[in-house]
Amino acid sequence: MEQELLSLQAEARKNLDQIAEQGQLEDFRIRYLGRKGQFSVIMRELGTVSPEERPRLGQLANTIKAEIEKAFDEKKAVLSSSPQSGAKGAALIDLSLPGRYPERGSLHPVTQIMNEVCSIFEALGFSVAEGPDVEHDHYNFEALNIPAHHPARDMHDTFYVSESILLRTHTSPMQARIMESQQPPLRVIAPGKVYRCDSDITHTPMFHQVEGFLVDTKVSFADLKGILTVFTQKMFDKDLDLRFRPSFFPFTEPSAEVDIACVICGGSGCRVCKQTGWLEILGAGMIDPEVFKMVGYDPEIYSGFAFGLGIERIAMLKYGINDIRLYYENDLRFLSQF
Ligand code: PHE
Repeated sequence: MEQELLSLQAEARKNLDQIAEQGQLEDFRIRYLGRKGQFSVIMRELGTVSPEERPRLGQLANTIKAEIEKAFDEKKAVLSSSPQSGAKGAALIDLSLPGRYPERGSLHPVTQIMNEVCSIFEALGFSVAEGPDVEHDHYNFEALNIPAHHPARDMHDTFYVSESILLRTHTSPMQARIMESQQPPLRVIAPGKVYRCDSDITHTPMFHQVEGFLVDTKVSFADLKGILTVFTQKMFDKDLDLRFRPSFFPFTEPSAEVDIACVICGGSGCRVCKQTGWLEILGAGMIDPEVFKMVGYDPEIYSGFAFGLGIERIAMLKYGINDIRLYYENDLRFLSQF
């Protein structure tokens, strides 16, 4: 019996060594290691051996079987990782194929537009300033000529942190912050996040604005028109008509809402512009003398304009996106298009 075991061991080792393809492994396993394989046959014969011999032979049989099983597993691992694996005649791995590259991330479309807006204004001599998202009621409202209980506060669905602290509802507080600490001439843009308690297909509770303002002597509405015309031409790569509609903001006088000719239909009327031919893109106006007084500028000497534009809105118009919420669902199929 011992002899039988040893020769089975030698035979199995030799056969295993000769195996060169994965396909041959299963035959080997059935022949030697399976339930009806050679080792099982020998194990069963152990019952016929004398009780004195049984423990020693049993142990030997187990050791040999374990060794063959281990060698079999190793062989299997080697064959499955080698390039020649697979059925006989199958093509070898084509080493000239390009590898799999790690996917490359990119800037969020809103960030891209924001950067683009900033660089257009930087080229016009504006400098970039950033301020806090969590803002004092004072800068968000009071310093912008919106005292407590002013009806204009209803225009902003404000998130309050405490009675005097809030999440800024627009980037206009930056006008007050900058003017308070610097003297004219000023040419500043302030990009950033703003917050309003509002959510539907054209509103998200957080969105982005870029505030722009210019203060100097003899600044006029014509300067505002000129700057905004250059901006829209560069932003939309087209010579688009602009329309200034009279409007109201407590911190500008006169105030206007500015429309551009619809980027989709060019002004003839379509679904995006609701058949009007125009799309609203920003609010603007001449800085109110009251605002100047609050920061200690003399409104008899200085004048200036300010405007605030919504980044998501510009990106929607530029890329023809009809639901603002798409920006914030983090769906790579959407985001990777930009
Ligand atoms: N802050 C205004 C808003 O969010 C926009 C604006 C900015 C209007 C500057 C006039 C001047 O609606």
